[in-house]
Amino acid sequence: MAADMEKVNRAILEHMQSPVALIPQLAGHIVASGGKRLRPMLTLATAGLCGYTGERHIGLAACVEFIHTATLLHDDVVDESDLRRGKDTANAVWGNQASVLVGDFLFSRAFQLMVGDGSLKVLKILSDASAIIAEGEVHQLVTTNDITTTEDAYLEVIRCKTAQLFAAAAQIGPVVAERPQDEELALEGFGRDLGVAFQLVDDVLDYAAEQAALGKTVGDDFREGKVTLPVILAYQAGDEAERTFWKRTIEDLDQRDGDLAEAQRLMVGHGTLEASLDRAREYAGAARAALARFPANPYRAALEELVDFCVERAY
Ligand code: IPE
Ligand code: IPE
Ligand code: MG
Ligand code: MG
Repeated sequence: MAADMEKVNRAILEHMQSPVALIPQLAGHIVASGGKRLRPMLTLATAGLCGYTGERHIGLAACVEFIHTATLLHDDVVDESDLRRGKDTANAVWGNQASVLVGDFLFSRAFQLMVGDGSLKVLKILSDASAIIAEGEVHQLVTTNDITTTEDAYLEVIRCKTAQLFAAAAQIGPVVAERPQDEELALEGFGRDLGVAFQLVDDVLDYAAEQAALGKTVGDDFREGKVTLPVILAYQAGDEAERTFWKRTIEDLDQRDGDLAEAQRLMVGHGTLEASLDRAREYAGAARAALARFPANPYRAALEELVDFCVERAY
């Protein structure tokens, strides 16, 4: 897919241009910082898997990455994050206002790309996904600092904020290839399960990663009081003193030196990072299984490799 991805990267650069210099400056900063390009890769690979030979998947893959980039700009403002893709976040460099507004610009560009494609079906898939992502982020906002958040509520948040875009990206392949609905549903489900696995791993990495490899600040979720699965499981397994610790740090956001290390120690003690990874492996297994009905070709192999990468990754 290297040649296609090259075209996607060119489309991204082309569509982030504007006579207002701050827009290409700020957007260029986050785009040039890299990123794994997993979501556009899903669109390219599922299109290839379905035997698609046209060019529509290029613009749509760029569109998917624009939606993702816009959510990152907004997410880093909401999460008050300083580090993204190994560089200062756009909000750290240009401030919250510029980040939010350029995020809006990139969202709008994504819609222009969808309209440019001309398919109402694609427009529905991606506009539904955009609304659901935003819903997920708002849902997460109201569970932040609520230590009683259930595993089900957490899963619902990550299905919306992360897995929905993976699902949409993977569904676009069979849609542009005009494949039957059962294949579309299979690949949409594949994307959703992969997306859930991906976010579960992201939430583990927020406590367990090597910061230099991750390119984001370890402990952001803790400092913000985000209630992710490793925290939910540690709270459930904790004794009275531990629960008091979680209430103070996550609910009251009263944090002191050494608290992040203590949180990590409790998680290791109760095996909650490992348990969260096990959960991710289950979803990844389901994603892999959804591919079995498709012909064993290099695209399928690439998607299987992508599933493995998502659970084994360090960044
Ligand atoms: C970050 O996504 C946001 C999450 C859903 C966790 P990625 O880890 O795919 O971000 P980039 O694009 O590779 O930087
Ligand atoms: C993913 O959640 C956010 C979006 C899907 C926009 P996180 O807040 O965990 O993502 P990172 O860790 O900042 O990349
Ligand atoms: Mg964040
Ligand atoms: Mg995260």
